[in-house]
Amino acid sequence: MRTKIVAGNWKMNKTASEAAALIVEIKALTAEVANVEVVVCPPFTDLKDAAAACAGSHVKLGAQNIHWEPSGAYTGEISAAMLKDLGVTHVIIGHSERRQYFGETDATVNLRTKAALDAGLVPIVCVGEMLEERKVGQTGDVVVRQVKVGLADLDVGKVVIAYEPVWAIGTGLTASPTQAQEVHALIRRTLAEMAGGDVANSVRIQYGGSMKPDNAKELMSQPDIDGGLIGGAALTAKSFAAIVAAGA
Ligand code: PGA
Repeated sequence: MRTKIVAGNWKMNKTASEAAALIVEIKALTAEVANVEVVVCPPFTDLKDAAAACAGSHVKLGAQNIHWEPSGAYTGEISAAMLKDLGVTHVIIGHSERRQYFGETDATVNLRTKAALDAGLVPIVCVGEMLEERKVGQTGDVVVRQVKVGLADLDVGKVVIAYEPVWAIGTGLTASPTQAQEVHALIRRTLAEMAGGDVANSVRIQYGGSMKPDNAKELMSQPDIDGGLIGGAALTAKSFAAIVAAGA
């Protein structure tokens, strides 16, 4: 059995003090939920205060990006060691907003994922098709390519994958449980080709894209949906905690 994992992707929201306060609320509201891994991913500037707020609790801390070099002349970038030093355990890689606005490619996803794995961080690797790609029947091709190239030559058993159809992110449109399950199963078959069935069966695949308290349970009841990567609904403790509870 795979333990469900629900992660909040806060994107560019919350100051450090707001982050600490939100984590205090999340801790309290999710304390009783068993068998769901809970992760919050605030902006870099919040991580130190967020780590203090998470300390000693069941809530784990993630970042939203990582650079692949260990150090050097990379203005504006953050290394794995810097994240580790703050108590970060997870890192989102290749989110569609980074692919769309910041030039992220499958090749850079591969480099970042390798850096995270080398440092012992759990990468949450995001994949997903754009609306135009879905419309012309390319969903499978796009997602399979993102998985194969993004995770090429890496220990795929150590990653979490987030399937996030780009047209569902922040739009209120959700993939139906059937649509999502179909892609999740395809991702798992792809992992099996790459690393064998046992490894593929152990990898958690989250769904992301307008997951809310009222659709979370049905989505996470699908056989290959092992949690959620939550944007908007992760910014208030009550809705995030309700999604965590739906995963139990
Ligand atoms: P959303 O974002 O829940 O606001 O759609 C999900 C994500 O981008 O990870």
